[in-house]
Amino acid sequence: MQPADPHIQSTKLATHAELPVAESCLRNQKPIADVLSRFLTPDMVVFEVGSGTGQHAAYMTEQLRGIHWQPSELPGCLSAIRAWREHSKQAGFLPPVELDISQDIWPLRNMDAVFSANVVHFVGWSQVVAMFKGISRSLKDNGLVLLYGPYNYDGRFTSEGNIALNEWLRMRDPDSGIKDFEQIVLLGRQHQLHLLHDIEMPANNRMLVFEKHPQP
Ligand SMILES: C[S@@+](CC[C@H](N)C(=O)[O-])C[C@H]1O[C@@H](n2cnc3c(N)ncnc32)[C@H](O)[C@@H]1O
Repeated sequence: MQPADPHIQSTKLATHAELPVAESCLRNQKPIADVLSRFLTPDMVVFEVGSGTGQHAAYMTEQLRGIHWQPSELPGCLSAIRAWREHSKQAGFLPPVELDISQDIWPLRNMDAVFSANVVHFVGWSQVVAMFKGISRSLKDNGLVLLYGPYNYDGRFTSEGNIALNEWLRMRDPDSGIKDFEQIVLLGRQHQLHLLHDIEMPANNRMLVFEKHPQP
């Protein structure tokens, strides 16, 4: 798999298993788990979009006991997740499935919740639109969507670090970049996904929590 961001590197862990590691996941996994634990309950099926290395699947299934975590990635990019699943041995860590959000085919229906970290800024706007459409179709009524990552407010970056990240993203793919919070909220509403919470996270990130229901 191509490194998903500049922080991904291959590292020997203390367990001597050679696994691909995104340093950002090591930093953000605990704050993310703390927030998820407020919204997710045991036995929920959580579908993760753009799982990257699979570290979040490993950590969340360890911390949020009883959760069924369904990781997904672009076709051909599942090997890191499989390696983490093998290493983790958590029953709730389900075998990864292929998903390209720009395609109209979503592997699951009637999902309880969708989680995605650092994907919205990594892809272009048309892919974000396709992602919201797919999520809305695949989520059950009152299902939750939890999106972790940086957002702009009133058209402004919230930190120097986010400006630098945006420049790096644009060099890689001119269509990608940090999205406006207000546009994401509007896009959600157009797909029956209504913002419940906008939670401050470390390092100028947010967790946006949406709920699916037909009424505004
Ligand atoms: C910045 S990485 C984040 C990975 C992981 N969620 C994390 O937090 O470390 C963005 C991820 O989005 C995935 N991605 C990019 N385009 C995608 C698409 N069209 N459909 C699904 N995933 C995609 C990439 O493969 C990559 O793993």
